[in-house]
Amino acid sequence: MATTVVGDVKDLALATVGYQRIVWAERDMPVLRAIRQRFEAEKPLAGLRMSACLHVTAETANLARALQAGGADLVLVASNPLSTQDDVAASLVKDFNIPVYAIKGEDEHSYYRHIAAALQHKPHVTMDDGADLVSAMVFIALNRLDDVHAEVRGWASKLSSAERQSLVGDVVASMEETTTGVIRLRAMEKDGVLKLPVIAVNDAMTKHFFDNRYGTGQSTLDGVIRATDMLIAGSRVVVAGYGWCGKGVAMRAKGMGAHVIVTEVDPIRALEAAMDGFEVMDMATAAPTGDLFITVTGNIHVIRGEHFAAMKDGAMICNSGHFNVELALDQLAAQAASTNKGVREFVDEYVLSNGNRLYVLGEGRLINLAAAHGHPASVMDMSFAAQALATEWALTQKGSLENKVYNVPKAIDQWVSTLKLQTMGIHIDTLTAEQAKYLVSWEMGT
Ligand SMILES: NC(=O)c1ccc[n+]([C@@H]2O[C@H](COP(=O)([O-])OP(=O)(O)OC[C@H]3O[C@@H](n4cnc5c(N)ncnc54)[C@H](O)[C@@H]3O)[C@@H](O)[C@H]2O)c1
Repeated sequence: MATTVVGDVKDLALATVGYQRIVWAERDMPVLRAIRQRFEAEKPLAGLRMSACLHVTAETANLARALQAGGADLVLVASNPLSTQDDVAASLVKDFNIPVYAIKGEDEHSYYRHIAAALQHKPHVTMDDGADLVSAMVFIALNRLDDVHAEVRGWASKLSSAERQSLVGDVVASMEETTTGVIRLRAMEKDGVLKLPVIAVNDAMTKHFFDNRYGTGQSTLDGVIRATDMLIAGSRVVVAGYGWCGKGVAMRAKGMGAHVIVTEVDPIRALEAAMDGFEVMDMATAAPTGDLFITVTGNIHVIRGEHFAAMKDGAMICNSGHFNVELALDQLAAQAASTNKGVREFVDEYVLSNGNRLYVLGEGRLINLAAAHGHPASVMDMSFAAQALATEWALTQKGSLENKVYNVPKAIDQWVSTLKLQTMGIHIDTLTAEQAKYLVSWEMGT
């Protein structure tokens, strides 16, 4: 197919490999494939301008294909400077005529120039992974241009007041893919500045229960191993945060023979970790003992100067939470006597004044996407099926949604999980009439 679309990708010559990877991922995405086929026939997204700010991976490419099949006029931009798969981005442009603005390793200016490209598309529906698109639109609508990056400000400052309002006002709904994004959007709602309806796709059971746990669990260890080649067995792995992602990371590290230590701030989750068989302690106690540290909290400065100072020689440190703020890398840089960037791909060495060498993986950005390929397609099948169906549902609700964060309707979770089971060849029982009645009655007791 001849390329007619524009975009900003590393090299269109990479498209052949990217195409192979997109088709390979598609094999493991039967639910999304079924949606694409139906969308192709029914065109529920016809006439819709969509801007998606997502990790540009082979799985996302298959979501993009489904949205395009449904009739959407889609622009895709990176949701993280290090998570783009350049070959996939090239193939989307060259083979699928989808404009993509994403280059692995792009600097902050390029990242926000790409965000601006997504906004210039004047979307009716947006998809975010971390709420960068919505937050930019909200800042613009509030005329708080000092709070947006210069690359966005340059464009937004030329918009009239009415155009700034209609940028956000024309959005029927925005889909949010990750925990951190949902937290930011709920905070906007609480502050009364959320100016569009949001669907918290992350909170669908068929998303966080599987993607955050099994996807992040497997791919985080994959990223660590690709970056370092370290032996996990017998090592002491400190996992900060025992939420959905942390449970997955801890479980997989344990399965590979690590001695896993969990740090938490939530007493219930700390108890859960303890009863799941993990050692639980605070970071100050864990710092001197860990061989590998993985943060997955969605919080800021979870590992700080005092923790780095206490770590042993050779400790590896990485993050799999959404933003690169979980490790206080500015503090580490200030404390280091010398820094050797790129001692191998995705590894920076910091030598402290006590002679200890600490290794930061993937610049503190999500290690599973920086150094590996992100979540396996089979799990993204469910997350992106929920994305596509939530988009379709939001359109049916046009005009009746308020500027709030909504959950994905249960029927979508049920449909996705039922079809996923079918495609896995798993049959489950159904309630008999007697059982169905018993479950809603109170008369029968001891
Ligand atoms: N790497 C990926 O591909 C990927 C995938 C999904 C989600 N995420 C991101 O991972 C992060 C975690 O997501 P989640 O779904 O597990 O969230 P979650 O809310 O289920 O869990 C986060 C946990 O971290 C704990 N926590 C907060 N501050 C802490 C601190 N200072 N020390 C120790 N623990 C602390 C919380 O108590 C909570 O239990 C988010 O930023 C999310 O967006 C990343």
